[in-house]
Amino acid sequence: MVNTQPSISVLGATGSIGDSTLDLLRATGNKFEVRALTANRDAAKLAKLAREFGARFAAVADDGEYFRLKDMLAGSGIAVAGGRQGLLEAAQVEADTVVAGITGAAGLAPAFAALAPNRRLALANKEALVCAGDVFMARVRETGAKILPLDSEHNAVFQALAGSPAKSAERITLTASGGPFRKTPREELARVTPEQALKHPTWSMGAKITIDSATLMNKGLELIEARHLFSVEPSRLDVLVHPQSVVHAIVRFTDGSMIAGMSMPDMKIPLAHCLAWPGRMEWKAPVLDLAQLGTLEFEAPDLKRFPALRVAREAMEAGGAAPVILNAANEIAVEAFLEGRIGFCEIAALVEASLARAEKESLKEPRTVNDALAIDHIGRSIASALLPQFAAKAS
Ligand SMILES: NC(=O)c1ccc[n+]([C@@H]2O[C@H](COP(=O)([O-])OP(=O)(O)OC[C@H]3O[C@@H](n4cnc5c(N)ncnc54)[C@H](OP(=O)(O)O)[C@@H]3O)[C@@H](O)[C@H]2O)c1
Repeated sequence: MVNTQPSISVLGATGSIGDSTLDLLRATGNKFEVRALTANRDAAKLAKLAREFGARFAAVADDGEYFRLKDMLAGSGIAVAGGRQGLLEAAQVEADTVVAGITGAAGLAPAFAALAPNRRLALANKEALVCAGDVFMARVRETGAKILPLDSEHNAVFQALAGSPAKSAERITLTASGGPFRKTPREELARVTPEQALKHPTWSMGAKITIDSATLMNKGLELIEARHLFSVEPSRLDVLVHPQSVVHAIVRFTDGSMIAGMSMPDMKIPLAHCLAWPGRMEWKAPVLDLAQLGTLEFEAPDLKRFPALRVAREAMEAGGAAPVILNAANEIAVEAFLEGRIGFCEIAALVEASLARAEKESLKEPRTVNDALAIDHIGRSIASALLPQFAAKAS
């Protein structure tokens, strides 16, 4: 008998996207056969999930955690791997759909390795496109893999386009909640703590993306993601702050029509779309009650208080190595902020200084994933070297 059960792998299974994916599978009666699951260090959670879902393969990026994972899965029949190579193997395990839910540039090589003929890649890891957009999209075309955007804004654009040629989209607007400091005066931003920044008003997500949402860097990274996903020039992309987070994106077509993608702010909704595409999943999705919500607000982003969005847009417009440096420096800056080593306002300042410093290196545009990873390494070194100056400014 031919097995017609759809199969799925989840890269970053222990994170927020992983939780949403596996919750959705539970909520819809486990119709998918789970093939590979990965984590960075959380071997205990990964082992538990691998057993619960009867995965065939589990991989942990941290070499040290590999032996723990191996012990925890001994006798289960689940194949175990570790390190960078283990992650690449997990990405290549035969599966109809792969969810790319690793955070940061670390997700690039596994997401790239997952691109294969007849494969659907539900892409949450925007950094893969920020760091190697052209290389990634060329590989998508070469393999015939189907990218389904999982980021809610890009998923909304994908649905709004619904097969219309991207060139008929005169303007693509991504919305941003504005984060927890939407109304915070500029002078007070210097004093906000990681705890305050981690309290997102509408979405529940991992720490890195939550800080990026507070600085609006997330929206900048998403502009770059959209540029590659939909093959549109930067001038046709913009951002609108929309604190209710129920309109995720708006596409204005050349004929003046505008289509907005709306839903409750819950990642399981774009996930359900990706998992059932081109059909529609039937499940008890949270329902948006517009009468109860009453008002939808929109405002232009304040680039003076949130310079990260301006810096990201400039990097997008510069192209070449700039988006890779932007992302690398931002990862270093966010980590330093979370560790209390720099202040909130120093995040964007450190990223901007890193970009200025990298410009002197005349770095070439990445032509391969390895090129992108090498530039990422340079960006991290530059930002780490500049960090003490910004730590001093913050204290
Ligand atoms: N969360 C959301 O709602 C949301 C929405 C839209 C887009 N995204 C995007 O989705 C991606 C994941 O976000 P998230 O919020 O789910 O992050 P998260 O909660 O921090 O989870 C990250 C996942 O990646 C793994 N990971 C972290 N560093 C890794 C490394 N160096 N090598 C291999 N695996 C690593 C983590 O493993 P451990 O648990 O072992 O650390 C975890 O499984 C990001 O690119 C984000 O921008 C997220």
